[in-house]
Amino acid sequence: MLRTHNNGELRIANVNEIVTLCGWVQRTRDKGGMIWIDLRDRYGITQLMLEEGKTPKEAIETARSLGREFVISVTGTVVERLSKNDKLPTGDIEVKVTELSILNPAKLPPFLIEDETDGGDDIRMKYRYLDLRRNPVRQNLILRHKMAQEVRSYLDKQGFIEVETPVLIKSTPEGARDFVVPSRMNPGEFYALPQSPQTFKQLLMVSGFDRYFQIVKCFRDEDLRADRQPEFTQIDCEMSFIEQEDILQMFEGLIRQLFQNLKGLEINEISRMTYAHAMKYYGSDKPDIRFGMEFYELKSEEVDLTSGKNFPVFDAASVVVGINAKGCAEYTRKQADELTDFVKRPQIGAKGLIYVRYNADGSIKSSVDKFYSEEDLKKWIEAANAQPGDLLLILCGDGDKPRKQLNELRLEMGNRLGLRNPNEYSVHWVVDFPLLEHSEEENRWFAMHHPFTSPKPEDIEFLKSGDLGKIRANAYDMVINGVEVGGGSIRIFQKDLQAKMFETLGFSDEEAKHQFGFLMDAFEYGAPPHGGLAFGFDRLCSLFGGSDSIRDFIAFPKNNSGRDVMIDSPSTIDAKQLDELKIKTIV
Ligand code: AMO
Repeated sequence: MLRTHNNGELRIANVNEIVTLCGWVQRTRDKGGMIWIDLRDRYGITQLMLEEGKTPKEAIETARSLGREFVISVTGTVVERLSKNDKLPTGDIEVKVTELSILNPAKLPPFLIEDETDGGDDIRMKYRYLDLRRNPVRQNLILRHKMAQEVRSYLDKQGFIEVETPVLIKSTPEGARDFVVPSRMNPGEFYALPQSPQTFKQLLMVSGFDRYFQIVKCFRDEDLRADRQPEFTQIDCEMSFIEQEDILQMFEGLIRQLFQNLKGLEINEISRMTYAHAMKYYGSDKPDIRFGMEFYELKSEEVDLTSGKNFPVFDAASVVVGINAKGCAEYTRKQADELTDFVKRPQIGAKGLIYVRYNADGSIKSSVDKFYSEEDLKKWIEAANAQPGDLLLILCGDGDKPRKQLNELRLEMGNRLGLRNPNEYSVHWVVDFPLLEHSEEENRWFAMHHPFTSPKPEDIEFLKSGDLGKIRANAYDMVINGVEVGGGSIRIFQKDLQAKMFETLGFSDEEAKHQFGFLMDAFEYGAPPHGGLAFGFDRLCSLFGGSDSIRDFIAFPKNNSGRDVMIDSPSTIDAKQLDELKIKTIV
């Protein structure tokens, strides 16, 4: 070892010991007679001290030549500090240097390697290896490491076996585009990188593994967001001879253990909400239920408090829904306009926002006063369960659209009102997802989860009768603080039902055989009833770390254009490689 201790280790009990430390120079303070150096490594910072006249001359000279991030080695005696630093665990001591050598000089880093850095996103990603020296980023990766250990420990105790599955495979139907890899040995043919190990884990159940898991990289070529990366990690799991309830309980256990052991938090209730309820009251299949602000309906199949008053916008809509922003009646005109601009943003796409102020003095003012009398508005206030001082925000449209838009506004209001505290956690399941969703564009049905998800037995009749929108699936998502952290389903394990499902999804026999023949074959050799789920590991890490961005928890992430700016990838390959692969590019 080149060192006797690390830089987070020395305490008052070590005083008078002679130690050797190594690390990076965080900063140097030269006060003429005295020089102090903060020496940093993964474990912390230790202060070094050199004194003109007492410390050997060569050491003083070397100290004066140091720059930020030089890698050095020092030997010296641990002494008690005169002015202690209670912010540092090593703040009671310093090391009085007797020898100092430079192990490697360093160029001036392009940004400050400190907790609060001056480096923007791009530059930090280009020099990610320097960014990773920063304390907060390192802590994120340590959290990730600990979470992986906890996951393995819990699942191992529950009898799960970790099995690796291949990365060069055939397309898996998770709904995104595949990344593909050309095969040199099979010209003109391509592997797909797995969007998930879905089919393999089902095959492992046919093989009798019974309880499988894998912490595994998945690849999806989709538009990126703060919680989406093209390569990300799943905690992928599958079990045999179980029902939905067994899976929910098994993985509630995992989540509880993670909260308990990583955050010291007891998660009390993990509630269940149907998809239908989530959409009706929150306009989202992953509602953030840390706060209420549920939707109320002014017009729907069940109520109508808006028609017949000659307000054409509401009359033309089949759905009018609102939220009650408690205590916001005093919002200024500017604030109300900001909210209107918010819902009109192209990503949200509402045409406008109607509001009703229920003022603290009991008076009512609305943006549709021309059409609705105080009497009418009182009915809305009642439907919204509003109190004086509240502000009703209302959107309209057809189908799920206004609800989805109102979901965005609800989350925005939650942010504005400070109702989404990242250190408060609410965990729940959304269950009973529809099996299929219809695409107007392509005029066909798609599997909402994936084609192996089993319908609820009581809804199978709708598969036969063609009432496809009514079929509910044995599918479930876990949601924490409005983030979908995991999802899964009970699978179809009977060949006939699987074939019927492929037919419903518009696959010809040929196509189904070509794409999934191996799985259908396997189901003829004794497939057990099975089901499973996968957690988004990066998302769990970011939630536990209190951040919105999963990038902060990935050592070497891609940017929003899917580029790794550090290694400059993707990049062109040379003509010889292309020739070998029998590939011609046209850009
Ligand atoms: P699903 O597609 O729902 O299910 O994915 C499971 C979980 O993975 C996370 N996730 C992502 N995280 C980061 N970046 C992405 N691009 C990304 N895409 C998904 C989410 C999601 O809940 N095979 C099924 C699971 C099963 O049925 O067992 C599957 O992959 O947190």
